Amino acid sequence: MLNSIRQKLFVYILTLISFVTIGAGIISTFELQKYFRAQLSRQMRTQIELIEFILKTPPATPPIYQYLTTYATSSHFRLTIINDAGLVLFDSKVPQDSLIFVENHGNRPEIRQAGEMGVGSDERLSRTINTGLFYLAIKIHSTLQSRHAFPSARYIRLSIPLQDIDEMMAAVQRKIIASGFIAFLIVACLSYFFSRRITDPLVKLTQIAEKIKHGGYDSGFSFETNDEIGQLSKVLDEMLRKLRDDVIQMDRLQKVRSQFLGNVSHELRTPIFTLQGYLETFLKSPHADEEKKRIFIEKAYKQAERLNMLLTDLIDISRIESGEMKMSFRYFSLQDWLQTLMADFENKARAAEIELALHLNTAMEKVQVFGDRQRLSQVMANLLGNAIKYNKKSGHVDILCKFERGKLKISVADTGPGIARKHHSRLFERFYRVDVQRSRDIGGTGLGLAIVKHIVDAHKGAIKVESVPGKGSTFSFLLKIKGSADRG
Ligand SMILES: Nc1ncnc2c1ncn2[C@@H]1O[C@H](COP(=O)(O)OP(=O)(O)OP(=O)(O)O)[C@@H](O)[C@H]1O
Ligand SMILES: [Mg+2]
Repeated sequence: MLNSIRQKLFVYILTLISFVTIGAGIISTFELQKYFRAQLSRQMRTQIELIEFILKTPPATPPIYQYLTTYATSSHFRLTIINDAGLVLFDSKVPQDSLIFVENHGNRPEIRQAGEMGVGSDERLSRTINTGLFYLAIKIHSTLQSRHAFPSARYIRLSIPLQDIDEMMAAVQRKIIASGFIAFLIVACLSYFFSRRITDPLVKLTQIAEKIKHGGYDSGFSFETNDEIGQLSKVLDEMLRKLRDDVIQMDRLQKVRSQFLGNVSHELRTPIFTLQGYLETFLKSPHADEEKKRIFIEKAYKQAERLNMLLTDLIDISRIESGEMKMSFRYFSLQDWLQTLMADFENKARAAEIELALHLNTAMEKVQVFGDRQRLSQVMANLLGNAIKYNKKSGHVDILCKFERGKLKISVADTGPGIARKHHSRLFERFYRVDVQRSRDIGGTGLGLAIVKHIVDAHKGAIKVESVPGKGSTFSFLLKIKGSADRG
């Protein structure tokens, strides 16, 4: 089994170079063989030309037959001279007196070929001397010379033992194999190092990724190369940077969430304990008079109410934050809406001895505002509730409307204690209260303005607070209106 890319790469390269060296070996052997044969034929032809010359001008002594036999033996070839009829006139391997026993050579392939084309060659086992031979025969023309040793000679044939040729070829082949093997070893070593060079960065990348998997987010993939691995590491680095940010974000969210959960349980605990306390006192004093009992029950009821409010707010805020709360935007009459709100809050204001007033000039009578009426009522309820709750004795609460930047600005102004500047930025956070004890006593949960901000944001209404400590506070936001273009 091949597991690592390096091993695979190495084996692929090895297979490739095996094929290449074996192929190169075969081709070079074949080509060399061809070249070798051609070279040999050329040499043999030169020899034959030389012999032809000797035949034309034979030496005086020794006798020509003996002279040629010695010449052929010392040159390691066999020489045969044949006439037109195929009769052997001379053979360096056959004594002169035995020539009559030599069979006719006219049908030998190389002789027939030479008869037709001037030159003929063949490779076979010689029946005459019983060894494998390579033959080359040439047809000669000038036989009319008086001094010619064999006047009827027509073919001169040279042959050399195949064994000699094969031995030479084998030696060459051995050299090819040896050099091929050495080349193979060198390339194998090189490819081992090259495959390492290619796979080492991958190994490093994997190690870094492994580190990151175990939380080492501060490690980086920086490879300063321009190749694919460099590009990959760049992409991974980018991914890692995003991942780091995500982790930080997630950590923060986690913190916010657990803080929220802590706040929620803390907020719930207070009314539950108080409720429990009243009920317990009630149960433990069976002989208390009816009036006292009624007070206990009333107080318990107040706590239950507070609990209910708190839970409603919590459900609202979690639905808003999870995106579950869908708004349904449409146009509705500003006047109608504010007058309905006024009717709802008049009693509450009167009970708190606060004077509540709606200021609408005639220009506002026909105005249609755009938004989710029910959610915007919730906004106003929170703002009016706060303005009534956090006010001075016999104070005022005013609802004011005016056009601003093509929109309608709604403000709720009170004559309460005001809010110091340092609280403004945190006022809209969940559970944030300026004066924790006072707010709790009044019955606030600290969620009201958080809900207000969410809803106003969904209307792109930019909630704002302005306040002069000791004088009062004004909360305001903007609403889109019908045909806003002509009002500016
Ligand atoms: N009109 C105001 N004048 C002075 N302080 C205010 C005013 N409105 C809000 N605050 C301060 O901001 C805090 C947050 O207000 P928010 O409406 O979110 O909570 P709450 O009124 O205490 O409770 P809830 O509205 O959930 O019943 C309040 O506790 C209060 O201290
Ligand atoms: Mg409130």
